[in-house]
Amino acid sequence: MASENQRNAVASRAAELREKINDHSRRYYALDSPEISDSEYDTLVRELIQIEAEHPELVTRDSPTQRVGEPSLTAFAPVVHETRMMSLANADSLEALDAFFGRVEKELEETEIEYVCEPKMDGVAVAISYKDGLYLQGATRGDGRVGEDITENIKTIRPLPLRLREPVQGKLEVRGEAYISKDHFRQINESRIDEEEPPFANPRNAAAGSLRQLDPHVAASRRLGVFLFAIGVSSGDDQTQWGSLGRLGDLGFPVNPRNILAKDRQEAGEFCTALQEDRFQLPYQIDGVVIKVNRLDWQAKLGATAKSPKWAIAYKFPPEERTTTVLDIFAGVGRTGALTPTAVMEPVEVAGVTVSRATLHNEDEVHRKDIRVGDRVLIRRAGDVIPEIVKPIVEARNGSEKRWSLPAQCPECGTAILRPSGEAVARCPNMACPKQVFERLVHFGSRGAMDIEGFGPAVVGDILDSGDIDDLADIYSLTVERLEEIVPHFAAKAAANLVAAIEKSKERALEKVIFGLGIRHVGSRTAEILAQEFGDMEALGAADFEQLNSVEEIGPKIAESVAAFFRQESNKQVIAKLRVAGVTMTAR
Ligand code: IVH
Repeated sequence: MASENQRNAVASRAAELREKINDHSRRYYALDSPEISDSEYDTLVRELIQIEAEHPELVTRDSPTQRVGEPSLTAFAPVVHETRMMSLANADSLEALDAFFGRVEKELEETEIEYVCEPKMDGVAVAISYKDGLYLQGATRGDGRVGEDITENIKTIRPLPLRLREPVQGKLEVRGEAYISKDHFRQINESRIDEEEPPFANPRNAAAGSLRQLDPHVAASRRLGVFLFAIGVSSGDDQTQWGSLGRLGDLGFPVNPRNILAKDRQEAGEFCTALQEDRFQLPYQIDGVVIKVNRLDWQAKLGATAKSPKWAIAYKFPPEERTTTVLDIFAGVGRTGALTPTAVMEPVEVAGVTVSRATLHNEDEVHRKDIRVGDRVLIRRAGDVIPEIVKPIVEARNGSEKRWSLPAQCPECGTAILRPSGEAVARCPNMACPKQVFERLVHFGSRGAMDIEGFGPAVVGDILDSGDIDDLADIYSLTVERLEEIVPHFAAKAAANLVAAIEKSKERALEKVIFGLGIRHVGSRTAEILAQEFGDMEALGAADFEQLNSVEEIGPKIAESVAAFFRQESNKQVIAKLRVAGVTMTAR
């Protein structure tokens, strides 16, 4: 039996690791100034996981290993907010903003008034409470009086401290906005499209959808962020909103570094106009600026209406929409054969980027929106990211516009298109369709899959044109000499680099290989689950529908698709060849 001394040493090492990890994650997420590399961080976490596995009695509630809990089987319980979560009155123009300043000055009989200006995050309002400095509960706003208990999902938000940096006795409630960054929003939608799930319309919907999942693993995989902007009864000596923000930062909460204290209404107004221009450079979507009277005693004096405080206002940016002309609509063929109508438009700048294409998702969408070739259309970027056609400008039509429908044959290989009844997606059923083969190969080498540097669409096209390869596995027999011949303008160095990159990809983890195979409905998250559950390719290939379907998070649609993939003789052969080439077939 381990001696008392040894046990104490392990316990204090665990405590030390927890403190280090918490400190580093605060530096990384809240302060945006990491001091150690990601892999050094991972090493600390692994050591803690190891200790806790060997000594379960040492696991604490605020351990960084405890962020992701068990799925809940029931709906979210109601939470009654101690004080109402109010919403804000809007100002849609600078004139409306001026009117707000005027009302505040009149009511307070003051003209020298400081304002705190905070970017208005386009996310989900949350109320989070702590007891004796430890994370206790997280809730949605709901109708302002009663929200939903989403404690387990909020807990997965990594920038959120599970233990406050200073001891606070009793209960403490903070409020803020949980959000999804533009980058993560893009990634989430890409993998939803991979899995043939409808993409989220904007980051707010993505955040809301993630927080309303019964399984916290899903919320954890969505990488939410949070900024706090209000604190319940705190130290008692905060006299101002700016002081509260400072206090939140001291307690270890992420506070938006873009917040400012404006010395007067003019400075506040200037901040609004400046941010309106700059907003597209931000890593997250904002839809305006929240302006708050800084002094809390003045806030109290101003009071509130039934719905919103009179000491604050949301200055809303006008939505960034533009008009342009649809020059053409074509059906693009993806790696699973799905045909996606895409509009080609006269280039136009929206939200800081020149846009000339927008996906229309599927044929029904084109008809529902009634978008015709030649139409003048209103466009915007969903979540400041993904270009989308909002609607045609019907009044601008002159009769020359042409309705569009999906071709009967695949535009790439001529095979008759299939659209099973009840399905939105039309498909080219020919697995050997050159465009599908091309897309599958590009996908295999892509960042999220085998991550083969230098294996972009142009090179893949040249390699396929040579006729040297029939399937994914054949890339592992490409030689430097042969690449130099078949890829025009490929110098010896570039060819050698590519061969080295292909060689290196053999070491990628099993989930990357599974994802790289491009099985329908299997996005990167699903691939991870499959790799974890089955441990190797052989076991996965041998699993039948029932076994697959019984895995948590794997529904019948995915189970059927995976089973069908591994039944197919040609796929079995590709996997056998990958195995012979030395590609990873087992989870580590
Ligand atoms: S203050 C009583 N500050 O906007 C004041 N709200 O319509 C309560 N929001 O539900 C809100 N960023 O979800 C405040 N810096 C910010 C905000 C913010 C986003 C959201 C919040 C609220 C809504 C108000």
